[in-house]
Amino acid sequence: MSVRVVLLGPPGVGKGTQGRRLAAQHRWALISTGEILRDAVARRSPLGLEARQQMEQGLLVADDVMIGLVHDRSAEQDASAGFVLDGFPRTVPQANALDSMLQSRGQRLDAAVGLEAPREELVRRLSARRECPLCKRAYNLITAPPLNDEECDDHPGTRLTQREDDKEETVRRRLEVYERQTAPLLDYYRGQGRLRSVPATGPVDDVYHSLSQALGC
Ligand code: AP5
Repeated sequence: MSVRVVLLGPPGVGKGTQGRRLAAQHRWALISTGEILRDAVARRSPLGLEARQQMEQGLLVADDVMIGLVHDRSAEQDASAGFVLDGFPRTVPQANALDSMLQSRGQRLDAAVGLEAPREELVRRLSARRECPLCKRAYNLITAPPLNDEECDDHPGTRLTQREDDKEETVRRRLEVYERQTAPLLDYYRGQGRLRSVPATGPVDDVYHSLSQALGC
């Protein structure tokens, strides 16, 4: 069965954590726009050069850039068996474009999941998020710490890094941007009867269980 799901929710709510797991379990493609952009920034590709400044400031990258990116990525072979969108859409024009994109391919969005957690929990999670610069393994100093200080378990001696946009002031800006530009999408999908709200507090396994139940998979 081919399933197309959007994961919505504020920075730090767990879209990436849950999306990776959902995609791996069902062999759906994970389309994480934040990951694609960070990779482009690291490679200094034209996309990366265009997106870098907005990302570092916690602002959104232009709609037309993001729509083009998802249009191409979602048409790749691995997405034909279904996909999980993490970080897209983020504005009403992006949501409209996604609907048109799928419609033109004779496809539809099966569900939009709104993950929810209190603001202080989001800030706590983001300030503790770290990753290995070599293998990109994700850590959280509070909930999933490395065995040794701030070093990668798989690459002893390699210090974990913090995402540039996880600095306190940028996190605050990202949360404001979410409220202003992305939260209206909850009403957009609610109005279409496609929104499923899932509490995203508590252990990762429990959240995954609730998410799977909400999706009926
Ligand atoms: P993006 O990477 O999408 O960032 P985000 O939406 O701010 O989301 P995060 O990655 O910060 O959080 P998450 O919800 O995935 O949480 P995670 O699972 O990592 O986008 C970055 C930037 O790219 C944007 O600011 C923008 O500039 C640009 N961009 C991207 N898409 C765009 C678009 N469509 N349009 C325009 N611009 C776009 O978890 C966070 C932490 O919490 C981790 O450490 C994790 O281990 C921990 N954690 C997760 N779940 C739990 C739990 N249940 N309990 C305890 N800890 C937990």
